[in-house]
Amino acid sequence: MAWYRAADLLLSRLDAEDAHRLAIRALKSGLVPRARQGDPPSLAVQVWGRSLANPVGLAAGFDKNAEVPDALLGLGFGLVEIGSVTPRPQEGNPRPRLFRLGEDRGVINRMGFPGQGLDAAVSRLSRRTRRGFVGVNIGANKDSTDRAADYVTGAAALAPFADYLVCNVSSPNTPGLRSLQGRVQLADLLKRVKDAIAATTVPLVVKIAPDATDDDLDDIVAVCRELRIDGIIVGNTTLSRPASLRSPRRGESGGLSGAPLTALSTEVLRKTAGRVERQFPLIGCGGIASGADAYAKIRAGATLVQLYSMLVYEGPPLVRRIKDELATLLARDGLASVGDAVGADL
Ligand SMILES: Cc1cc2nc3c(=O)[nH]c(=O)nc-3n(C[C@H](O)[C@H](O)[C@H](O)COP(=O)(O)O)c2cc1C
Repeated sequence: MAWYRAADLLLSRLDAEDAHRLAIRALKSGLVPRARQGDPPSLAVQVWGRSLANPVGLAAGFDKNAEVPDALLGLGFGLVEIGSVTPRPQEGNPRPRLFRLGEDRGVINRMGFPGQGLDAAVSRLSRRTRRGFVGVNIGANKDSTDRAADYVTGAAALAPFADYLVCNVSSPNTPGLRSLQGRVQLADLLKRVKDAIAATTVPLVVKIAPDATDDDLDDIVAVCRELRIDGIIVGNTTLSRPASLRSPRRGESGGLSGAPLTALSTEVLRKTAGRVERQFPLIGCGGIASGADAYAKIRAGATLVQLYSMLVYEGPPLVRRIKDELATLLARDGLASVGDAVGADL
């Protein structure tokens, strides 16, 4: 791990977005060592008719342009989600727009979907050999006049390359996007996307905000059950700011993620799972920093988990640590597999 400590020393001194770009470059160049150890059999998990070696995924936002999905799988993730991809390229918000909250082990971002657009993602994904489990997360352009149409365009173009597709209707950094979570708008959006990919078998998943109220969750889950959606990711970053935040950057606008989001996102996951009644799998995301955090989300109803922010602080060795700790916790509780733990606390 000496290589990572040296890299970390450098990365932590850079502006957060420059550090991210450098990390992508390092992954592209093959400089980052691949995980060599296999996963314990207890971590294997079945989802959507597929078997994954482990349930620990990389959340959307790290590899927005599908530049390094295979290098990321090589770090030991059981699944990697690329995107959010918008139909047309766009700049996103002015920099700085990504902030480390070191004292709180958190991150605030107001990126606003900067990205190279659909054609760039399609071109990269179409050239790669399909392996591992790679989800594709789609979003809408900021200046779009028909946001739902953007998801239809993205889904139709990216479905052939995706092991699952995510409609991200929960980014707080594109004004108005979160209103797509409302009952009528969400039903309209998902019907249109479902129609667009009807000829494929790719699972369709919705990513929601951890700021959803109980009423919002009633609506979201009702729509997803009615339309037979394949899964929900709970969730995205939060607009809330816990009073406990200490970092000088805590007042920056944008979505908060990392450790300050752990408890909130697990609680909203639990509420979602109560409403879903095992009709489809859930993906727990938000503030995962340890095997215990992942295990809590699984016991609250998640079949898979994802993380992003804590990688900023701990780097690739975090993936191995979370998997080892999770396997230890399953064994401690006499559970033979992740599947046996899903929803155990409900
Ligand atoms: C810099 C940054 C960019 C992100 N970009 C996206 C995105 O494009 N699409 C998306 O669905 N979520 C995005 N997210 C949200 C993450 O996927 C994740 O839902 C959230 O950060 C909570 O997980 P974490 O606490 O492990 O980071 C982003 C998060 C961060 C920190």
